Amino acid sequence: MAAQNLHTDSREHSATDEAWVSVIRKMDEAYADLVRYQVQVEEQNDALAEAHSFFDSVQAAMSDVLIACDHEGRIQQVNRAFEELTGRALSSLVGQPMESLCSGESRERLVDCLQRIRTEDVRDEQIDIEGADGPVPLALNCSPRFNHRGRLVGIVVAGRPLGELQRAFNELNQAHAELKLAQERLIQAEKMASLGRLVAGVAHELNNPISFVYGNMHALQRYTRRLVEYFDLVQSGASREELRRLRESLRLDRVISDLDSLVEGTMEGADRVREIVNDLRQFSSTQSSEKVPFDLIHVVRSALHWIIKESRVVIDVQEVLPERLEAEGHSGQIHQVVVNLIQNAADAVMDQPQPRLALSAGETAEMVWLEVVDNGPGVAAENLPHLFDPFFTTKPTGQGTGLGLSISYGIVNEHGGTLTIDNHPDGGARARLTLPVNRESKIDG
Ligand SMILES: Nc1ncnc2c1ncn2[C@@H]1O[C@H](COP(=O)(O)OP(=O)(O)O)[C@@H](O)[C@H]1O
Ligand SMILES: [Mg+2]
Repeated sequence: MAAQNLHTDSREHSATDEAWVSVIRKMDEAYADLVRYQVQVEEQNDALAEAHSFFDSVQAAMSDVLIACDHEGRIQQVNRAFEELTGRALSSLVGQPMESLCSGESRERLVDCLQRIRTEDVRDEQIDIEGADGPVPLALNCSPRFNHRGRLVGIVVAGRPLGELQRAFNELNQAHAELKLAQERLIQAEKMASLGRLVAGVAHELNNPISFVYGNMHALQRYTRRLVEYFDLVQSGASREELRRLRESLRLDRVISDLDSLVEGTMEGADRVREIVNDLRQFSSTQSSEKVPFDLIHVVRSALHWIIKESRVVIDVQEVLPERLEAEGHSGQIHQVVVNLIQNAADAVMDQPQPRLALSAGETAEMVWLEVVDNGPGVAAENLPHLFDPFFTTKPTGQGTGLGLSISYGIVNEHGGTLTIDNHPDGGARARLTLPVNRESKIDG
């Protein structure tokens, strides 16, 4: 029995064992599954973490800002660049309307962009976002986000900060445009001022001779009436005594002695007008005709006479001049140059207690020269480079056209000579003119 029991026992035993084995096998399998699953999860976790850090590093490296909003423009998500730019954490931004990020004109433009995005693309819109340290200009691109039914569910805004360089470039561009405009205005103003100075100068110059021509003609008109009256009496066969009386009462002797100087003065005035007109013409055209020999000293004396006669103050003139000095060219033009130099010197000494001019001239093998030195204030260093510029003058309107030296320079240059102005070591200005010597007349003696 015991043996049978034993037998039965062993059979029962083996059935139980089998059950255990299968349970253990199942457990093993389950465990193996679990391990495999665990490994898989860990692998997936790693991949996810890697993807996360990859995405994070990409995001961190992005200098462009990224803002995701809902369809009404309320912020849902921003990237780190945006947090850094605004100095605000995502948590304080979520739910805010996007336009709250800007102010003023930029705010209006952003609202407009968010409106337009429903119908068109918005690209490169320049908008200032309120940054941590003041407004930051961004070039914004906006893209709409649609759901599977094609309804607008949100907006993605990408913004590129306009770098310092770009900003500087924009500012430079603007400054350049402004400068160009200012320069054009300046040139225009200068032209008008030059024209004004020229017209004022010419008007002043012409006024003087014209007014004395006018005055002389008035006198001549009065005198003519008296002469007509006298000749009528002669014609009527009046007696000698009657004629004498009328002649006396009309003061005809004075009339007759005045006639010459009246006519002469009138001619002189007309000449002066013609000279001024010629000066102007010379300025606009350089007529070139044959050059002829002439005496520079004669030209100097006549110019000096003209200026000293007109001068308001008495000027002491020292001359160290040879008897004659043969030069070659257009004596009329050189006369104009010399008049100009002496006139400038006379103008310069006008307010001196003892106005003085010194004229000297001479010749070398190559050229003849003339120097005009005055005891005026001289030329300020900053003006020296501009003396020969047309319209450069330091004289009040009506007294200077600023054309004298520039015209003179042109004339002298055309003659193959030189004209320089500097300050004399002893004070005052020194003008020096040189002209090519006239060889032929030298040979002729
Ligand atoms: N002898 C001088 N002394 C001082 N300044 C002078 C002299 N000569 C010329 N200048 C300067 O040069 C400027 C230009 O002279 P100019 O061309 O003759 O024009 P303007 O006499 O009509 O002013 C003068 O306004 C003056 O400032
Ligand atoms: Mg002058």
